[in-house]
Amino acid sequence: EWTMAAFRDEEIARIRAKVGKGKVICGLSGGVDSSVAAVLLHEAIGDQLTCIFVDTGLMRTGEADQVVTLFRDHYNIPLVHRDASDLFLGKLAGVSDPEQKRKIIGGLFIDVFDEEAHKIGGAEFLAQGTLYPDVIESVSVSGGGMTIKSHHNVGGLPERMNLKLVEPLRELFKDEVRRLGHELGLPDSFIGRHPFPGPGLAIRIPGDITPEKLTILRKADQIYLEEIRNAGLYDAIWQAFAVLLPVRTVGVMGDERTYDYACALRAVTSVDGMTADYFPFDHEFLGRVATRIINEVRGINRVTYDITSKPPGTIEWE
Ligand code: XMP
Repeated sequence: EWTMAAFRDEEIARIRAKVGKGKVICGLSGGVDSSVAAVLLHEAIGDQLTCIFVDTGLMRTGEADQVVTLFRDHYNIPLVHRDASDLFLGKLAGVSDPEQKRKIIGGLFIDVFDEEAHKIGGAEFLAQGTLYPDVIESVSVSGGGMTIKSHHNVGGLPERMNLKLVEPLRELFKDEVRRLGHELGLPDSFIGRHPFPGPGLAIRIPGDITPEKLTILRKADQIYLEEIRNAGLYDAIWQAFAVLLPVRTVGVMGDERTYDYACALRAVTSVDGMTADYFPFDHEFLGRVATRIINEVRGINRVTYDITSKPPGTIEWE
């Protein structure tokens, strides 16, 4: 019988055979795939592995700290944490077009990663948490398929860096990666995380991105996810997040007129992200979240809930 414990042992042997005494670098994103890949590699080759975490400044509240704490302090994996938020936000200033945002973020990510890899020096391999569906998708794309959005932000990385690829998860589906993560002792809270896009909050702020908008969005998103967890709904949902809309609307607060941003809440169920249905929250829950966001987040005075399915919508707003 094929078990995760057996897969783990086989894959560790395969990694050792491939890598030998070579040095491996691995990019961490805070997501499940790169995390599982990193922990598996660390088991296989120990300190021959160095992880690089590029902080784009586009992550959610507390996320960067969680990554650093888990990998550096808990797992003792050599980790470079590069805070590049000023660089990313600077280059994104005034940019509204979604594909342009992705292009800028993907390009900068490669630049910064490459720079950090050179500082480490001597790496022969690049490890990536590519899954089986990613392998299939890139084959079909290069076969002339059409993409709606350019998802593969770091596509050019291995070629440009002249490194050999190590992809220990390339035979696995998402649920198998989660089981492997569990097998490797990653905390359940980490393994069960909703997917989060590489371009991060940049594609959840239609229009141009400013530090002020990011701060507002982070607060709203945090409240929303906190309420989802408290209601015991987190695991029933594929992805849930807030979107900061580029419109200001009129409201009243006490006897003051307000003129602030509107925010949209999104939550979907899905099996693979290819199709999705909106999550049927009860109205009482939505009312509670809306009240909290409006009362606690300065800058938002209106909350809406997105009931679009995919297709024809997409999960993200950009
Ligand atoms: P859409 O919005 O296309 O999203 O329905 C499907 C899944 O892909 C994620 N997504 C991205 N992931 N870079 C990523 O790494 C991207 O540019 C990107 N755009 C969307 C989205 O969060 C959902 O899980």
